[in-house]
Amino acid sequence: MTEHRGFILWFTGMSGAGKSTLASALEDEFKRKGYRVELLDGDEVRTHLSKGLSFSKEDRDTNVRRIGWVARTLAKHGVIAISAAISPYREVRDEIRALTEKEGSAAFVEVYAEAPIEALVARDVKGLYKKALAGEIAHFTGVSDPYEPPLHPDVVAHTSTESVETSVKRILHYLIEKRLITE
Ligand code: ADX
Repeated sequence: MTEHRGFILWFTGMSGAGKSTLASALEDEFKRKGYRVELLDGDEVRTHLSKGLSFSKEDRDTNVRRIGWVARTLAKHGVIAISAAISPYREVRDEIRALTEKEGSAAFVEVYAEAPIEALVARDVKGLYKKALAGEIAHFTGVSDPYEPPLHPDVVAHTSTESVETSVKRILHYLIEKRLITE
């Protein structure tokens, strides 16, 4: 295995904003380089580790803290841990960053998958926005529940206006610049 330091690559953004797509493209790229990488995807985590949790603020915070704990544990052991959950609350994301940096063993890189709500509603891959706007899903992020964008994200991916390749390149460039990976 190629030597590299563990770190957390934390995606945040609304449903359908492209977190999973970017995360999985980067996972492939890291694997290609021979790096150890683990992808913690929100939808998947909710089928086992966080099974049964709702979308209340309390349960989302629990979900996100669990992902944060697993990601820190992986990163501590030299793995690149990628998280792709909405993680709508700034305070909890900042808490995970602080815990990661306090332990001193890993960096926390926050990537904001940004897309205007109009674009998400227009694309609506899973058909959830239509339901949420019709009042069929309570507490839907961006419609009837808050999303707090990061104030100082390390990288912003404008997923409604730029290609996956462009965003991936920018993220890789940032990681190289920070000496977290090599070229
Ligand atoms: S988080 O808020 O706890 O970070 P997470 O990323 O795990 O959310 O799950 C989000 C996914 O759950 C969405 O992509 C969507 O498919 C689904 N979902 C179901 N109900 C909701 C809701 N009320 N708000 C947002 N996403 C929802």
